[in-house]
Amino acid sequence: MFLWFIFASLLCSASARPSTQTLETPFSDENDTEDPAEVRSAAIKRLLEVFGMDDPPSIHGHKQAPQYMLDLYNTVADVDGVTKDPNLLEGNTVRSFFDKLRSEQVEFSFNLSTVSREEKILTAELHLFKLRPQASLTFNRHHFCQVSVYQVLDTSKSNSTQDKKLLSSRLIPVHSAGWEVFTISQAVRSWMMDEDSHLGLHVVVRTLGGSSMDMKLMRFASGRNHHQSKQPMLVLFTDDGRRSTSLESRDLHNNAATPTLPKSFMSGSSSRMARSVLDYSEEEAAPAPCQRHPLYVDFEEIGWSGWIISPRGYNAYHCRGSCPFPLGQNMRATNHATVQSIINALKLLKGVDTPCCVPDKLFSINLLYFDDDENVVLKQYNDMVAGSCGCH
Ligand SMILES: *[C@@H]1O[C@H](CO)[C@@H](O)[C@H](O)[C@H]1NC(C)=O
Ligand SMILES: *[C@@H]1O[C@H](CO)[C@@H](O)[C@H](O)[C@H]1NC(C)=O
Ligand SMILES: *[C@@H]1O[C@H](CO)[C@@H](O)[C@H](O)[C@H]1NC(C)=O
Repeated sequence: MFLWFIFASLLCSASARPSTQTLETPFSDENDTEDPAEVRSAAIKRLLEVFGMDDPPSIHGHKQAPQYMLDLYNTVADVDGVTKDPNLLEGNTVRSFFDKLRSEQVEFSFNLSTVSREEKILTAELHLFKLRPQASLTFNRHHFCQVSVYQVLDTSKSNSTQDKKLLSSRLIPVHSAGWEVFTISQAVRSWMMDEDSHLGLHVVVRTLGGSSMDMKLMRFASGRNHHQSKQPMLVLFTDDGRRSTSLESRDLHNNAATPTLPKSFMSGSSSRMARSVLDYSEEEAAPAPCQRHPLYVDFEEIGWSGWIISPRGYNAYHCRGSCPFPLGQNMRATNHATVQSIINALKLLKGVDTPCCVPDKLFSINLLYFDDDENVVLKQYNDMVAGSCGCH
């Protein structure tokens, strides 16, 4: 299993404690009649939890991800999904939404029901694709126009007589074509606090003199009449507050995750499922020194290729090997591990094992996927790839 290296480290540290008799004891009561399908479903449920989900999103038919999200993913992640630079994104989540009004007018509304309450909205952007003016109107005295994005307000709820609030405004060349981005973070934050206040956005185009402008001259692609690649889009940069549980801070003795693990996770002999899903080879107690080995997690074999757009899988790596005395430089041993290996070698105390070969550096990966509402989401997950191994 790809969580194997985490469990292995728990197992190793348990066996290193003098009070625990043998390595096998906690997991040896494995029931061979245990239904493999049940184990598989329990394992996959636990894996979903690692990815912060209760159920796998259901996707109907072939959907296309917005180019913006594909480009963003390729900017932050390498081909295996590993984060190139942890400082590129401020938060750990980027969500895209298509306009649900699909109106002929320049009015937009978005269904944000998939954004959780805990998610902090860092930035919200309205992305509009500006079309070229229609040819017959090209010779026009206007070169620039003022484009303003308004939040539609409920006049019955507030004392204000205003029915809309200006969010963003700027000059745009009339003859340009391409994406225009407007920041509307405050409006989205207010929608998140009160769903009923979400009455949509309204875009107004004026000449520099302030008079209203012919919308034939200044057109934005709409969800109704234009290709999907030009659809109006809301992009949210958020943070869900999930932080890395660092190796140091993880309480090995009271780890809540351990008791919920299906027993078969730990078995080398009968976890056929683990072996078919994840490509790792297990050799019997190889005396090779502590080293990093490949551990490929294949989303297609897990059955997640329908909703995960990228990557197809990733190499989590795992750490395996012995940590005997004397621990060399390349073992990246802690002082504690060095002392433990000396006590072990001198057999000064009973039950003190050699140190454990565990990940000592972990990298995050990125997932580009469809959520329950078929919006495309980019999410970063910490501590998913063993960057290096050491004796600890
Ligand atoms: C194994 O599981 C089956 C079904 O859950 C149960 O009937 C049986 O008693 C178990 N055997 C052992 C040795 O735990
Ligand atoms: C938003 O989407 C959810 C899930 O698809 C749906 O249950 C809800 O009715 C939608 N809300 C609106 C206002 O359309
Ligand atoms: C509207 O304003 C009046 C007087 O200024 C005030 O008494 C009332 O509470 C306000 N209502 C709301 C909904 O803010």
